[in-house]
Amino acid sequence: MSYAITLLPGDGIGPEVTEAAVKVLEAAGADIRWEVKEAGADVLAKYGTTLPDDVLDSISKNRVALKGPITTPIGTGFSSPNVALRKKLNLYASLRPVKNIPGIRSRYDNVDLIVVRENTEGEYSGIEHIVIPGVVESLKIITETASTRISRFAFEMARKEGRRKVTSVHKANIMKMSDGLFLECVRKVSREYSEIEYEEMIIDATCMQLVSDPSRFDVLLMENLYGDIVSDLCAGLVGGLGVTAGANLGDGFAVFEAVHGSAPTIAGQNKANPLAVILSAVMMLRHIGEQEAARRVEAGVYRVAFEGRYLTRDLGGTASTSDITQAIIDALPDAS
Ligand code: NAI
Repeated sequence: MSYAITLLPGDGIGPEVTEAAVKVLEAAGADIRWEVKEAGADVLAKYGTTLPDDVLDSISKNRVALKGPITTPIGTGFSSPNVALRKKLNLYASLRPVKNIPGIRSRYDNVDLIVVRENTEGEYSGIEHIVIPGVVESLKIITETASTRISRFAFEMARKEGRRKVTSVHKANIMKMSDGLFLECVRKVSREYSEIEYEEMIIDATCMQLVSDPSRFDVLLMENLYGDIVSDLCAGLVGGLGVTAGANLGDGFAVFEAVHGSAPTIAGQNKANPLAVILSAVMMLRHIGEQEAARRVEAGVYRVAFEGRYLTRDLGGTASTSDITQAIIDALPDAS
């Protein structure tokens, strides 16, 4: 079957790592017609926005996208097109599986967890204003609707994937009303899933536990900002941002992207690790039902990682983006 899928190369290392994924998927026999769309700073002058309508139209039509990272200026400038995309398409769940890949060095060898991040509200509501010079208010929005929706997503996913436990991560000891509401919603949903163990943990204690013994976690459910930070922490448990895949999911639309950003200091140098985007593409293939291509790409990645001859610098090797990409293509198992 042939699929039309939107491709957002993004900027920074985005074009290099998405190109790698496109090549590997093609070699694995996935019949995809890519509709390439641009977003971010480069299109701002031309369209007057970092997220032009034709990006949204294309994803609305195709329902699935593979996305590279897009740079957002720090402390000034335009607001994040990444956040805008998630909000506009109501991609309310961010799903980030974090698992050891044999051959990729890390401090742990027993990590197998999934971060589920609420993707539409919290501190990311972007509602900030100057009250008086020197005083800024930033609003954290938590709603019953979004908190219940992400809770149901997490428990349904846990049930489907045969996961044993969901940990709800919060700071309701301090943010009693906002995080308190989030927790209340998770608790209510958790009661419908008696076969899944449910626990609650304060965000700071969770970070300590994660770096002490990540094997005690299974599914971690949390609000937007906590999910953003904890995902990067979890990436560090299994080899770093170069290997950690992700998906933004909603009812009807799915945008697959790595956890990492645009890594400007190594952009355009053929140094970036494409594995995180390639593994995000594996999630995408599974999502569209292309199990055989997914199996082949994943096996190719695992073989290259295990053999260790073509690893990029972030993984302790010397291979370039194109070296590791070609190595994966060469390592693809035969079609069954
Ligand atoms: P980053 O994830 O781009 O980089 C953090 C560190 O990890 C850097 O040392 C970088 O070189 C390294 N790294 C990241 N991905 C790598 C890869 N594939 N291969 C090798 N090394 C890799 O985070 P940073 O520097 O905080 O953000 C840079 C820009 O990216 C910012 O403008 C930020 O807003 C944006 N960003 C965009 C995201 C998205 O589009 N979804 C997500 C996160 C950040």
